[in-house]
Amino acid sequence: SITRYYEFNVTQHSINPDCSEHTSPVFLINGQMPGPTITANQGDIIHVLIRNKLSEVDTHHHDVAIHFHGIRQYGSNHADGVPFLTQLPIRPGQEFVQEFRVINQAGTFFYHAHVGLQEETVFGPLIVYESQAANPEILSTESSTNSTEFLPLTAGPFSYHDEHVAILSEWWHRPPIEFENFLMGSKFKFLPEADSVLINGRTMHDTRHATLAKCGGYDVMTVLPNKTYRFRVIGATTFRTLGFAIARHNLTIIEVDGELVKPYTVNQLEVAPGQRFSVLVHTDQVLDDYSIRVVRRWSDDVGRPTNGIAVLQYQQPISRLNHPSLGVGSRGVLRFKRPAMIQPPSIHPVFEKAELEAPYWIWQELEPLYGVDPTVRKPASRTIKLRSVDRHLPDGTTRWQVNGVAYTEEMGSKQQPILYNVLNKTRQLPGRYNTAHTNGYDPNLRTYPLKHFEIVDIVIQTTHMPGEPCRSHPWHTHGHSHWEIANGKGEYTEERDGKIRNINTPILKDITMIYPNVDPDLFTKDGEKVTSPVGCGWSKIRIVADNPGIWAVHCHNTPHMLMGMMVALEEAPELISRP
Ligand code: C2O
Ligand code: CU
Repeated sequence: SITRYYEFNVTQHSINPDCSEHTSPVFLINGQMPGPTITANQGDIIHVLIRNKLSEVDTHHHDVAIHFHGIRQYGSNHADGVPFLTQLPIRPGQEFVQEFRVINQAGTFFYHAHVGLQEETVFGPLIVYESQAANPEILSTESSTNSTEFLPLTAGPFSYHDEHVAILSEWWHRPPIEFENFLMGSKFKFLPEADSVLINGRTMHDTRHATLAKCGGYDVMTVLPNKTYRFRVIGATTFRTLGFAIARHNLTIIEVDGELVKPYTVNQLEVAPGQRFSVLVHTDQVLDDYSIRVVRRWSDDVGRPTNGIAVLQYQQPISRLNHPSLGVGSRGVLRFKRPAMIQPPSIHPVFEKAELEAPYWIWQELEPLYGVDPTVRKPASRTIKLRSVDRHLPDGTTRWQVNGVAYTEEMGSKQQPILYNVLNKTRQLPGRYNTAHTNGYDPNLRTYPLKHFEIVDIVIQTTHMPGEPCRSHPWHTHGHSHWEIANGKGEYTEERDGKIRNINTPILKDITMIYPNVDPDLFTKDGEKVTSPVGCGWSKIRIVADNPGIWAVHCHNTPHMLMGMMVALEEAPELISRP
């Protein structure tokens, strides 16, 4: 294993990634969006030096913190990148090092800012290969003989010729800081959809006046015919859950959130904020350009196509003998010489409406590749219920409360991070874990204390205000992947739903979507219309508290998180290791 060094310089730029009339001031890592791709092999140490080179110092908007999403950070809680939980935000002019070993994980991850709405532009892929032998950079160097054949890349039992990353994000023409002030202020009513959905940081907002000189065009992913490719699809969206498809190509899911699963073929993916998939795609079509597209899911206009488009472009195989200048690692295609495209290909994927509206989708069907972990059959030590409610407060602002508390960033703004107080022992450690009367919550510490190696079930319950629709909520666990073992409509009750296990082969993942499953029966109670907030749906997830640390658990719809939809787990604080 080796240490991989990266430097992230955060600076301000004006960009126009969707080729529109609007240029916005945003923050970028090393001037790029997506930021640089981090790659490592399982067992390697990743060392990232982050420099906040922003100049403004007046507000928290210019603070920086970077989270490596999906990396469990075993023994390295201090590198988790959550301001006021695991570190102080990095102030303008300051720098900060995050170093961690990638233990027992390989697959598709990403990193993103964990301050305000910065993650709209501050994000990038993080790819972990199973071993040195599975890392394409190394393979290309070792196999660079005068041959047109390449060794296949592998992940577990799967092999493929090459891979592409499709990182999905959203772009609002309103600058992120202004947007955040709007969300948190009293004028906020509802969240506007993004102006554009970007694939690998670009798309075309309006192709009519576009010129290549002004715009980067659509991202083009080149493939050879009759090969298998791995596409790593990353949901780096801030807000909306998307459907993703490639025209005339099936997608065989082999990885979800960094864990391999039994192959499962679909024609579209549902990608929630924070979620990652690897799909195998066989290039069995004729030489042509095919569009890669995204549509909205779980919105009022479900299935409405977005302008998020990229291009799957077939190329004739090119012999490296004839093209000695062909870049190493390009695996037989002219990856660096491809033409940018400003008009979309004419072959589009078809999204079936019925499929777009189907609620539970694939979670009951997927199976872990190496079998179901026996821990999912054991009894849990307890069940913590997190019930989220949106409140319109007297000052006109809206906050999402979880069990009555909105975890806003202001909560910590004048304090030390919880982790520092635990390590310096200036904080009283949770004395008793038996907080049944408060549903597991310690109101003094403002955390949910967990015992070392405890098996805990967490029921995430969503609700809606009368007259307002239910929303979808993709919940994320830091420091842990979890199993989603059950879900249901309406309000979870211990006596009715406590024994339900309707996901029999749960896979490990770090995002669980709570679907807006409104059961019409819930609107009436004893013939009366229910006027208090009622349940929309719930999911029960299970974690094993095997990783001492302070861990955020939150909705990955970032506006919801900023409005309070987040809690902190305080896991075996006496055992947290020092940096
Ligand atoms: Cu990707 Cu706390 O999140
Ligand atoms: Cu949410």
